[in-house]
Amino acid sequence: MRKMTLITGASSGLGKDYTIEYAKRKQDLILIARRLDRLVLLQEELQKSYGINVLVYQVDLSDPKQIENFITQFPKDIFINRLINNAGFGFHGAFEEYSQETLSSMVEVNISALNHLTHHFIPMMKENHEGEILNVASMAAYTPGPFMAEYYATKAYVLSLSMALHEELKPYGIKVSTVCPGPTKTEFGIAAHYKHQDGIESTFSMDSLPVVLTSMRALEKNKSVSIPGVSNKILHIMMKILPRKVGAKVVMRIQKQRF
Ligand SMILES: NC(=O)c1ccc[n+]([C@@H]2O[C@H](COP(=O)([O-])OP(=O)(O)OC[C@H]3O[C@@H](n4cnc5c(N)ncnc54)[C@H](OP(=O)(O)O)[C@@H]3O)[C@@H](O)[C@H]2O)c1
Repeated sequence: MRKMTLITGASSGLGKDYTIEYAKRKQDLILIARRLDRLVLLQEELQKSYGINVLVYQVDLSDPKQIENFITQFPKDIFINRLINNAGFGFHGAFEEYSQETLSSMVEVNISALNHLTHHFIPMMKENHEGEILNVASMAAYTPGPFMAEYYATKAYVLSLSMALHEELKPYGIKVSTVCPGPTKTEFGIAAHYKHQDGIESTFSMDSLPVVLTSMRALEKNKSVSIPGVSNKILHIMMKILPRKVGAKVVMRIQKQRF
């Protein structure tokens, strides 16, 4: 059995950095995203630089049939011993302005794809008495988020599910860790259609690499949740103290700056 690390959303931002960091650690990789050209470039670069095996798959994770096809054609001699559920996107705007398509594809990518892949790969991890699952949630998981309402709600789901699986799978030697990044410099804001990205929140934006390294260390130690960066840690403490109603008002002020 060939052990491989599967990373979703490897074509940019955090996913690309997870890819490079695991490549440096000589892990063989399977990369998923829609932009195949970017994945192929990464594949060529990493195979040459690190002498590892990299397989790339163009899968639109908002389409359950494409996920099913990916799983069906998946080589039987590969054991996914590490799953990085990173792909995700948000949409900035009033809830009723989301198209029905955006509404459903956000649930598909941020929640259903993560469910599908995790559900599929756990049995093999149990059989092998080893496995690591890293789910990328967000600080958004801790509060309602007016003007990005659905995104915040999907990340609350991811955090809750992952913390439960952390406990369920610990006796089987399977590590499950969730990372809750705050604002991070990636292509996220472009995908989310932010008109302005220069508000208070952006002042505290982190580079992608420290977020990735913090979460990789947390996964290795099987920490249930990691929160990268001092400002996010302070924010987390405040969110625990403040009523959720107040949190929602604060987020609304931040999100309004982006119109
Ligand atoms: N940046 C932030 O401020 C921030 C903060 C907290 C949490 N996060 C979370 O971090 C994760 C990574 O986002 P990022 O910040 O790195 O943003 P990003 O640069 O926009 O990367 C998002 C990745 O997800 C992939 N993706 C999106 N929709 C997909 C689909 N339908 N099918 C397959 N892949 C899809 C994209 O690939 P393709 O477009 O090529 O398909 C891309 O590789 C997300 O889960 C996001 O919610 C980000």
